[in-house]
Amino acid sequence: MKIIGTGSALPKKVVTNDMLSEFLDTSDEWIVPRTGIRSRHIITDEKIEDLGAKAALSALEMSGLKPEEIDYCICSNVVSEYVTPGLGCVIGAKIGLKCPCVDINCACPGFIYALDIAETHYLAGKAKNVLIICAEQPSRMCDWSDRSTCVLFGDGAGAVVLGPGENIKGIKLHSQLDSNTIWERQSLMPTPYYLGDNSAVGLQMKGREVFKFAVTASTTDVEDLLEELGMTKNDVSWYIVHQANLRIIDAIKQYMGEPDSKFPVNISDHGNSSSASCTILLDEFNRKGCFKEHDVLVFSAFGAGLLSAVAVVEW
Ligand code: UT7
Repeated sequence: MKIIGTGSALPKKVVTNDMLSEFLDTSDEWIVPRTGIRSRHIITDEKIEDLGAKAALSALEMSGLKPEEIDYCICSNVVSEYVTPGLGCVIGAKIGLKCPCVDINCACPGFIYALDIAETHYLAGKAKNVLIICAEQPSRMCDWSDRSTCVLFGDGAGAVVLGPGENIKGIKLHSQLDSNTIWERQSLMPTPYYLGDNSAVGLQMKGREVFKFAVTASTTDVEDLLEELGMTKNDVSWYIVHQANLRIIDAIKQYMGEPDSKFPVNISDHGNSSSASCTILLDEFNRKGCFKEHDVLVFSAFGAGLLSAVAVVEW
């Protein structure tokens, strides 16, 4: 497949580190050197489905395709107000899709997992034009009295339209399964019979373990896939890395011995927007005209699961 359109949408409310320090024992001086985050967009009166729809419509407009020309839609989302139907169906109904819509929850690397599903459907002859929507609101997952997590995240949506082509050169998915390193539990409807614990627990994260996993998984995934494809780092034009922490991106850059100029970043004013992160970054730099035909983009992302993934895509 080939990426033929990108789009993104952000909530209007911008929350700075200083605004967080008004109700949390934290500071800009702590947050910036450890994460690179200065502010983030946080949902107030917006709905995540409206942000997803806006991102999708702007990607469709760029692609020149109409909603009814999309054969398959994959929505990457960790949490929405809808238990059913899936968020992809909710967004699809808003924008006039006529195709099957599926949701996936693969946390932060969700975009690359969606790309893998899209390419597999395309190669099987089951879909020609695919829409991927990554719509995330991690602000609704955090415990806002826990300074070790809530300062890290921001909300938003990104979307990509894929059409026929041979531009996805390779995708590698990786897992190191463990449900104790990053997790959150929601409470479900009570029943007259259920005897278990039904209390909600806000997002829990062992930050240092995630940091190590992120750097090791990303660098290993990238090196392994490039080698499998018979490519070297010299062939890579851009690394579109999940915007979780600037120190993680710097560590990856250093380990790979690659220059700053190959790593677009927007974490400073977005924070970590889970699976939306790579698609928002892609759209922002695409709209600045950064990517040229035949540029090689390496997407790399990591997160809860623990899951990681890498994709090599020719522009
Ligand atoms: O999509 C993937 C998702 N996650 C990630 O990518 C996160 C990866 N991990 C990280 O980015 C880093 O581990 C963090 C930024 C989350 C934390 O940095 P750290 O250097 O690993 O700090 P720490 O958790 O070891 O905490 C050090 C200290 C602690 O205080 P004490 O126990 O030493 O007194 C924390 O309580 O910093 C304290 N602390 C804070 N202080 C001020 C933790 N969060 C904050 C805060 N403001 N927001």
